[in-house]
Amino acid sequence: MLRGRRVAFPPSFEEAALSARASAKLIARPVACLKGRVRAPGDKSVSHRALMFGALALGETTVRGLLEGEDVLCTAAALRALGAEVTHDAGEATWRIRGFGVGGGREPADVLELGNSGTSARLLSGILASQPFTSFMTGDASLRRRPMQRVIEPLSRMGARFEARDGGRMPLAIIGTDEMVPIEYRLPVASAQVKSAILLAGLNTAGETTVIEPHATRDHTERMLRHFGAEVRVTPAEGGGKRITVVGWPELLGRDIVVPGDPSSAAFAVVAAAIRPGSDITVENVGLNPLRAGLYQTLLDMGADIAFENEREVGGEPVADLRVKGSALKGVEVPAERAPTMIDEYPILAVAASCAQGTTRMLGLAELRAKESDRLASVAAGLLANGVKHEMGADTLAVHGTGSAPAGGGLVATHLDHRIAMSFLVLGLAAREAVAVDDGSPIDTSFPGFAQLMNGLGAKIEAA
Ligand code: S3P
Repeated sequence: MLRGRRVAFPPSFEEAALSARASAKLIARPVACLKGRVRAPGDKSVSHRALMFGALALGETTVRGLLEGEDVLCTAAALRALGAEVTHDAGEATWRIRGFGVGGGREPADVLELGNSGTSARLLSGILASQPFTSFMTGDASLRRRPMQRVIEPLSRMGARFEARDGGRMPLAIIGTDEMVPIEYRLPVASAQVKSAILLAGLNTAGETTVIEPHATRDHTERMLRHFGAEVRVTPAEGGGKRITVVGWPELLGRDIVVPGDPSSAAFAVVAAAIRPGSDITVENVGLNPLRAGLYQTLLDMGADIAFENEREVGGEPVADLRVKGSALKGVEVPAERAPTMIDEYPILAVAASCAQGTTRMLGLAELRAKESDRLASVAAGLLANGVKHEMGADTLAVHGTGSAPAGGGLVATHLDHRIAMSFLVLGLAAREAVAVDDGSPIDTSFPGFAQLMNGLGAKIEAA
């Protein structure tokens, strides 16, 4: 059961999926190599936005390829509570949204339960802050630890008020207003979620709201808002970076969206094949937005054998099928500037680095400490449990690979973090001894069917 989740209505598709969640120890056993062809699941970031922007549009939005993971289902449930009609036609694999329009949501009758989903919490804060009612949101133990001050601060400057736990943590009360004032805000941290929260608040604000980002982060919000009919201008900022301006009170109109595959999810199969010599797999439909593709650049730098086939556009995003063969990898330095383009991929990169020859140094990792878990500490603990030499700094990680299989044999604490669970299961496929994770249930937040997909390629991941 998703922790603390309340079921207020007869169980829907989402509630049935969510209630299936139970803490589950998983184990991955060493395998010789991986072979086969799989399709990457829908992109989580794009899926959240497709539902939210559909809710802010008038008329019908259809979404194909939506990620039906718990995080996205939390967004769907929250949007229904705000008055959007969100339906799912399984036969057609299409989701349909009838929106309430910019500024047209209604006061939710209950606390919005956002599970493990930081993207839901941050982006919905922007929508809710600019509505003239009070709403409440909470989440699981992981989400209630995560920093919300980063959205509270700019949205308060625009005129909303918040009540939060100490340190700006959830549960959160958002006392919204439809008399927001536009701001110009320089992001203190590289965060697409904070950028998006401000731009979404700017939709229901008279005038022009501007976010300045010194370091470019994923731009799905800008791309998709334009697709829905908003005016979004992007120009170079003085002193470097980008100025992103949204013009308030656009009329957003329902659109048809196709969600590309998620490069962050595809990464697990790609790395698993790259570190097992003799492997030959293809992962179809991998989104390769340049602001998301840093891991793939890094793997190429390490000597991975990855061919980008059938390059095309899906839903306004570049996509390719990735053919990956196992090969010898070497350690590299990953510069801090690359961090925003691969922020969710450091745990799986650390696994690749464990199997590489030499040291991989990763710099500029401070934001990893604010993810579903303190990912820097979680990764370091997982490496330690599996006999991988490494050094962790305040915002750095050095992994010392020997070019041969790591020892493995450890039990890794996932701390409600899906990417820690999946990364260390991949390590188990390439280690000398099996690797277990204490709780694989968070995997369903972003990658339902992960174990089945990997096992279809020849992995051995099972309940322990
Ligand atoms: C996301 C942005 C990133 C990323 C998260 C999804 C998004 O978070 O880690 O998984 O969809 O905008 P930050 O904005 O906190 O860096």
